[in-house]
Amino acid sequence: MGDRLLHVTESQQFSREILYDLFERADKMRDYSGDKFKGRIMASLFYEPSTRTRLSFESAMKRLGGEVIGTENAGEFSSAKKGESLEDSIRVIGSYCDLIVLRHNVEGSAKKASQVSKVPVISAGDGKGQHPTQALLDVYTLYREFDRLDNLKIAMVGDLASGRTARSLCYLCSKFDDIELTFVSPDNLKMGGDIKGHLSENNVCYSEHDDLNNVLPRVDVVYMTRIQKERIEIEDYENARGKFVINRENLGLVREKSRIMHPLPHVEEIDLSIEIEGADERVAYFRQAENGLYARMALMDMILNGS
Ligand code: CP
Repeated sequence: MGDRLLHVTESQQFSREILYDLFERADKMRDYSGDKFKGRIMASLFYEPSTRTRLSFESAMKRLGGEVIGTENAGEFSSAKKGESLEDSIRVIGSYCDLIVLRHNVEGSAKKASQVSKVPVISAGDGKGQHPTQALLDVYTLYREFDRLDNLKIAMVGDLASGRTARSLCYLCSKFDDIELTFVSPDNLKMGGDIKGHLSENNVCYSEHDDLNNVLPRVDVVYMTRIQKERIEIEDYENARGKFVINRENLGLVREKSRIMHPLPHVEEIDLSIEIEGADERVAYFRQAENGLYARMALMDMILNGS
């Protein structure tokens, strides 16, 4: 990536230097109150459901003093419903705003949108493809929790075939040194060959396992993910669900200084009480979600104010 960030469509765009710049800006955003984005407008265009990504982007823009326009169910409430192409929608929406945040159900849509957009497009997730800003907030969380990004043992657990957050995080992991990845997934939902190929080419050590309890005591990070029911066949979902769960029983296998992360939303793969989630320092996923706000403020600052 050059000096200036324009579109954000995949996590491998980010260099180590840009990531550290982003973390520094994100730390400063924690107490930011000002209006450096006064007069700027973000369009939030979501063709898939979202809680964290959409609302944290919208909150980020407002906290920076800007305005938000958009539609949260774009497939139904935008002219896509009347047959308008994504490219035409993007060309038009780009005339009304300074930045477009796009979540789409079809892989490759963010790239397609960026090719016709006159304003920056940030992917908020595209089908089974990538979720680059989730990966940014994930590594920002690692940085805050461990004060380092090198030399970490990370287990990624769950639906690694269609989980775009794990895919994007793998690309960022390949930027750091001495990262060891352990994939724990049902047989039918293993990490894709494209990601494994990328890890091999970049000398990232990875292995695949099917016994979560065996892996838990050996890693610094347990990155849990949901089985993506909406993206797979119902038989695949039924075969995979409930196989890998963190609960009160196996929580004891997680080391005291390790962290449990999850892009959220979580369903049955995390079965811990609200009390445990609130009191146990190892549970990092709500801090992770909050970090998304600051990481996205920092990202928009880089894009609209220069990196
Ligand atoms: N992590 C994430 O993308 O959550 P949402 O689907 O709620 O945006």
